[in-house]
Amino acid sequence: MVERKADPDEAWTAVDEYIVDRLIPDDPSHVRDANAAAGLPDIDVSIPQGKMLHLLARACGARRVLEIGTLGGYSTVWLARAVPADGAVVTLEIDPHHAEVARANLAAAMLADRVTVITGDAHASLAALTGAFDLVFIDADKPSNVAYFAEATRLSRPGTMIIIDNVVREGDVLDPTSDDPRVQGTRALFDAIAGEPRLSATAVQTVGAKKWDGFIVALVD
Ligand code: SAH
Ligand code: DHB
Ligand code: MG
Repeated sequence: MVERKADPDEAWTAVDEYIVDRLIPDDPSHVRDANAAAGLPDIDVSIPQGKMLHLLARACGARRVLEIGTLGGYSTVWLARAVPADGAVVTLEIDPHHAEVARANLAAAMLADRVTVITGDAHASLAALTGAFDLVFIDADKPSNVAYFAEATRLSRPGTMIIIDNVVREGDVLDPTSDDPRVQGTRALFDAIAGEPRLSATAVQTVGAKKWDGFIVALVD
C-alpha cells in the first residue's frame, strides 16, 4: 500500500514525478531550466501535459500547428517535435522577452527550422494568418479566449483539433459572479462552444504539478 500524502497537491506532484520517471525520458528540461534562469513565470504546461499535446498532434497527423501564447516555448517544443521536418508550428507571443527566450530554446532543441515565433498581440497576428491548421493550442490571455477560439475556427478545416488550456482554474470556472476576468473569459468560451453546432467538444479536468485545472478539446466537424 502506497503511503497517502496529506496534502493533495503534494500527492499530485509525486504522481507526476512517477509518470515522468516511467514514461517521459524525453522531457526537454533544458527549456524549463532556461526559462527559470531568464525569470519567466512557471506557468507552462506540466511535463505530462506537454507530452500529451505532442501525442495528440501526432495522432492528428498534424503538419501545421498554431499556438497562441508561447512563453519560453516549452509547449512549443513538444508540438514542434510532433510535426515532420517540412511541417510548421506558428506560435504567437506578445512579450518580446518571452519570444526571445523561446527562439533561443527552439534553436537549442534543433527545431528552429519548423517554428515561427511571431512577436506581437495575438489578435493582430491572427488577423494576418491564413489556414488551415491541423491543430490549434490556445494558452494566452484568458479574457481573449472567445476571440481566439473564433480565429481558430476560421483557420480550421473539418478535423482540426482545438485545445484550450486552463479552463478549470481550481474550480473557479463554476462561479458566474467571479470578478476575475480570466474566469469570465473561460465561461464565455464554454458558452461560445456550446452554441457552435459545427464542433464536438469536451473538457477534461487535470491534477498534477500544476494543481487542479483542465483542457477543452474540440474537433471541427
Ligand atoms: N504555452 C506556454 C505557456 C503560455 S503562458 C507553455 O505551456 O509552455 C501565456 C503566454 O501568453 C505568456 O507568455 C504571455 O505573455 C502570452 N500572452 C498574453 N497575452 C497575449 C496576447 N494578447 N497575445 C499574445 N500572447 C499573449
Ligand atoms: C496562467 C496562464 C497559463 O497559461 C497557465 O497555464 C497558468 C497560469 C496565468 O495567467 O496565471
Ligand atoms: Mg496555460
